[in-house]
Amino acid sequence: MSSDSSADARAGDGPLIEFRGVTRTFTNRKSSPVSAVDDVSFTVNTGEVFGVIGFSGAGKSTLIRLINGLERPTSGSVTVLGQQLTTLSESRLRHVRKRIGMVFQQFNLFSSRNVAANVGYPLRVAGWTKDQRQDRVEELLEFVGLADKAKSYPEQLSGGQKQRVGIARALAAKPDILLADESTSALDPSTTGEVLRLLRRANEELGITIVAITHEMEVIRSIADRVAVMDDGRIVEEGLVYDVFSSVRQSEKTGFVGSALKDRPTAEDLRRIRSTSSGRLVTLSLKNSATVSAALGRAGEYGVRFEIVHGGMNTTKNASFGLLTVALDGEAAAVEKYLEELRQAGPVQEVSQ
Ligand SMILES: Nc1ncnc2c1ncn2[C@@H]1O[C@H](COP(=O)(O)OP(=O)(O)OP(=O)(O)O)[C@@H](O)[C@H]1O
Ligand SMILES: [Mg+2]
Repeated sequence: MSSDSSADARAGDGPLIEFRGVTRTFTNRKSSPVSAVDDVSFTVNTGEVFGVIGFSGAGKSTLIRLINGLERPTSGSVTVLGQQLTTLSESRLRHVRKRIGMVFQQFNLFSSRNVAANVGYPLRVAGWTKDQRQDRVEELLEFVGLADKAKSYPEQLSGGQKQRVGIARALAAKPDILLADESTSALDPSTTGEVLRLLRRANEELGITIVAITHEMEVIRSIADRVAVMDDGRIVEEGLVYDVFSSVRQSEKTGFVGSALKDRPTAEDLRRIRSTSSGRLVTLSLKNSATVSAALGRAGEYGVRFEIVHGGMNTTKNASFGLLTVALDGEAAAVEKYLEELRQAGPVQEVSQ
């Protein structure tokens, strides 16, 4: 079989990327070994946006370098576009890499080349003719909304524009996968939105599969279909963005999901709430908000009073969700009985006293 057999993975019948028990350990002479990626398994399907979120040092960049073969696993297997990278020769690996575009935090543009030359660079390396390059660059600059900047140099562009050039360059050779490593971390909130909308269009209009790694919840919320939460080299939570973020259960280990959402009371909020409200504090998921409202409406039937003490809604690519914290006042047995009713309406988490 020719190395082009990897094109089969495009059909969308299997995962585009598959990690099985992948560990990457760095051994330095002076310090003890560090497993930057530690026994990680996940799959990314054709056409989806897969987000990886975690604090600094969690292993996100190492994970991305394992996808494009810049790192090799110490153990476990990495399969990309139907090819098991672990067993590939350098030349076969280069072939897979050509089908992966990469977007960087610091843009990594050539300052001495204009926008058109930056975008056309990978095509030059891939041996496209001048005419082919010109057509493709024009098309790409149109797509990212920078047709009028072809002759500009990177230093003449804003951060958001630079990143749009970075994305155009990453898309130039029509890759199957786009890897984005902190693609918006160097940008302010308004340009972040502009870059995220562009990544979303690349996914929706060009059908490109995206793996976006980030420490910003905003990135996950607005573009990801599924998310993995990474901590200390491991994936500690994984699932649909909606499910992971709307789960009342907070990641025991990192608290990452909980801490990034605005709808859960902080320790400071709790001190304030406790000074003014008595009663049992519980947090309710608003995933089925109508059911929760109805259940709250029946509190009186149980002889229980409730007071809403904290809450908020969050929006993701596909849905909205939120959490509501209420203080329940009444006889202990009545509150207990009423809690049963609330649990029928959805997940309930007791706020520790
Ligand atoms: N080449 C290397 N040699 C030794 N240790 C490394 C190497 N690359 C990464 N590490 C270590 O592995 C861990 C994970 O690093 P990595 O860069 O993957 O994290 P990250 O999640 O991308 O962090 P950040 O958000 O700061 O970019 C860190 O403890 C780091 O020091
Ligand atoms: Mg990193």
